[in-house]
Parts: sequence; C-alpha cells; structure tokens
Amino acid sequence: MDASRPDLALRGVRKTFDAGSAPVRALRGVDLVVAPGEFVALRGPSGSGKSTLLHLIAGLEPSDEGTIEVAGARVDGAGRAALARLRRRHIGLVFQFFHLIEHLSALENVALPALIAGARATEATQRARDLLDRLGMLEKSGELPGALSGGQRQRVAIARALANRPTLLLADEPTGALDSAGAAEVLDLFTRANDGGQTILMVTHSPEVAARAHREVHVRDGRVVAGESGVFEAAITGDAR
Ligand SMILES: Nc1ncnc2c1ncn2[C@@H]1O[C@H](COP(=O)(O)OP(=O)(O)O)[C@@H](O)[C@H]1O
Ligand SMILES: [Mg+2]
Repeated sequence: MDASRPDLALRGVRKTFDAGSAPVRALRGVDLVVAPGEFVALRGPSGSGKSTLLHLIAGLEPSDEGTIEVAGARVDGAGRAALARLRRRHIGLVFQFFHLIEHLSALENVALPALIAGARATEATQRARDLLDRLGMLEKSGELPGALSGGQRQRVAIARALANRPTLLLADEPTGALDSAGAAEVLDLFTRANDGGQTILMVTHSPEVAARAHREVHVRDGRVVAGESGVFEAAITGDAR
C-alpha cells in the first residue's frame, strides 16, 4: 500500500437537491483529506450536510461538482459496476438504525458481503464467525436481529461493515439510537478497529464520542468550517468556498 496516498480525498464537492419549490444546497464546496489509519469525527448541526457527504463518498448518490477519491479511485463519475466494486472492496457502511436483514441470522448478515464479493460459503461463514467472535457476539450468531438489543444489532452491523476488510469505514451516527451502555460498547469496537489500523470517518452529535477520534471536522451549512489541528489541517480548512 502507498502510505502517502490518502484513504479519502474530497475537493470542491457540491450537491444541490431539487426539493419542490426551492433547491437545497446541501454541500457548498467541501474539501477533506483523511490519511490511512486516521479516525475522524464529523460534527455539525442537523441539516448541515453530514449524511449527504457520507452518501456521496459511498457513491450512493451522485455529486454535482468536485472530486471524490477513495483509496486512490474516483467515486465521482464512476459507472455502476465500478462503483459496486469500489463499495465492495473499499467501503464499509454503518448506519444509525443498523439496516440488518431481519430474516437472516446475525452470522448470515455478516457473511453476506463476502458472499456477494465472490467468497466461497465456507470461507465467508468462517470469516463472519471470526468477526463476531472478536466483537464478543459469537454466542448470538444464530439469532435473528429482532432477538438482539440495539447495542448487539449495531455490533452485528459493524461486523458486516468490516467483513470485506474495507479501506474506509463510514459511520453515520452509529450510537445515535443506543442507550449509554450500548453506545459505550459500540464506541469501544470502533476504537479497537482503529487501533488495528482501520481508517474511520464517523458522523456524531456527541462530544464524548468525538473525543475518541484523532481529529474533529466541523460542518456548517454544507461547508467544512474547522478541523482540529492535524497533519492535513491545510487541506481541510483551505478554500471551502
Ligand atoms: N434526498 C434529499 N432530497 C432533498 N433534500 C435533501 C435530501 N437529502 C438531504 N436533503 C437536505 O439537505 C440538507 C442536508 O441534509 P443532511 O445531509 O441529511 O444533513 P445532516 O446529516 O447533517 O443532518 C438538509 O437541508 C436536508 O433537508
Ligand atoms: Mg444525518
């Protein structure tokens, strides 16, 4: 791996939604660079554009302007097949409300990304088992999501997001729906994954959660307004017109 290459690089990213009467300028020129192994917390008021930013990075929605690179590959302008490949190989996604498949067991949910990526069933299952074991969820591997607590569901969702060993783990308020015990458990998992070298970009409202990150990036009205001083400070604060 090229250590000088950032895992994520955004330059001049803009996105406007045509919602009924007035267009909503959700992102107004975002620059952001995240280095391999960094754990970055993305903070900002409700409606400031944090989720939109994550969706664009993951290629779930197209940007209007600017460039988005994940692991050196362009997300903006990529075709459907290239995007699917990029997402499979390089991006893990964790949402506030887990988005697990309710009729699949915890183990089957975690094994699914590897199966979709073409792994053999025995290998995908073994990998899922190892992940659930590491996250303290092995004894729950046969349960359906409905039988699990919120914190346990989120642990399964994190295992699923890590299943294909993604370059970049994106999380949108992953502790937002959890009680304080569940949130602490989940936060420990992110910290451990990061200690193991996993690059993380996490949206959070919570200052306590953000305090676990290496660096905070603040978003307001579709712009990055400040980032705590870090290696890439200049890249973050520079030219966010
Ligand atoms: N699909 C959409 N259609 C229209 N407007 C949207 C859509 N998604 C987000 N927005 C608007 O874009 C702005 C940013 O939203 P969002 O990225 O969800 O903010 P945050 O995650 O920071 O709360 C908001 O004004 C929101 O209403
Ligand atoms: Mg949001």
